Amino acid sequence: MSLLVSSWSNGVQSVPKDYVMPPERRPGDYIAVCKEIPVIDLQNDRSDIIQQILKACKEFGLFQVINHGVSEKMMAEMRVLYDEFFNMPIEDKLGLFAKTYGKGCTLHTSGVNYAKEKVHFWKDTLKHDCHPLEEHIPSWPEKPARYREEVGRYATEVRKMGFKILNMIGEGLGLPEGYFDRVSQEQYMAIHLYPQCPDPSLAMGIDGHADPNIITFLQQDQYGLQIQKDGKWMGVDPIPNAFVVNLGYTLEIISNEKLKSVEHRVVTNSSASRTSIVTFFSPSPTLPVENEVPIIIQPAKELVTSSNPPVFTSFQYKDFVARYLAFVCKPRPRNGTPLDPYRI
Ligand code: OGA
Ligand code: NI
Repeated sequence: MSLLVSSWSNGVQSVPKDYVMPPERRPGDYIAVCKEIPVIDLQNDRSDIIQQILKACKEFGLFQVINHGVSEKMMAEMRVLYDEFFNMPIEDKLGLFAKTYGKGCTLHTSGVNYAKEKVHFWKDTLKHDCHPLEEHIPSWPEKPARYREEVGRYATEVRKMGFKILNMIGEGLGLPEGYFDRVSQEQYMAIHLYPQCPDPSLAMGIDGHADPNIITFLQQDQYGLQIQKDGKWMGVDPIPNAFVVNLGYTLEIISNEKLKSVEHRVVTNSSASRTSIVTFFSPSPTLPVENEVPIIIQPAKELVTSSNPPVFTSFQYKDFVARYLAFVCKPRPRNGTPLDPYRI
């Protein structure tokens, strides 16, 4: 349990040796917030929004949304709740602690597998599934006492916003109505705490990666998130009450590379801790139907023509996730992306 960064980092004067990144993996010079990253108002005219979203998905693989329908009060409640959660005495969190990223509700530290890392990340993560709620709520933390009720409501609201945006992406791409209802069943959350760090130039919150899933929605309270565009890192503005929306590899594949996933990372902060509340939508490895048909990922057939042939082969989502996890655990620097084996 003492492995959690938040359990020992308060007041430390220097970054412990096993958290000091080798020079090529450090954040480098300070990177300012980039004001060109699109901020889309979801109360605008629907056809305008679709155009803006599609443009952002092609150029950046990421955008922010405001007036998205998730109430500010609820977002504020989440900030207070997770502050309380991470500040609870260690005994109250012991039962959730896991050494690796795994199934169910877990609290782990650093990356996917702490024991196999040469250097660790300056981060602790609580993670659990969210859909269907009734099935997963019993695994969620019992403390703070209001956790299950408040997070249950939040997960429901974020799902509504998520599918509204997915449906607009589908419409913009020319996919049949409801396309993502079938292919994007799973919803899970990761709540990351990046404690204050005595020297952000040496440590990292999360290394550069793109998400494996379809789409990700992120609520953040401090600067720290950066994306890579045209080989350069740029900072994502922590706009109060906005959600950051980023595309994962699976949507890049479905769109036959019309839309792109985005490489992103998190740097640490010496004056404040940062909490991000992240919701992922992804295919479930098997469909929730009687015969458990595995989910096959491939460029949507509606987007493939003789003049626009498929760029990727089709494959089972669960195999891709296994390959993805193996890829992110590889020592750095590493070549290529986990999509490469599927390219035609
Ligand atoms: C992630 C991620 C970014 C953040 O969980 O995949 O990239 O700001 N999180 O915590
Ligand atoms: Ni990510």
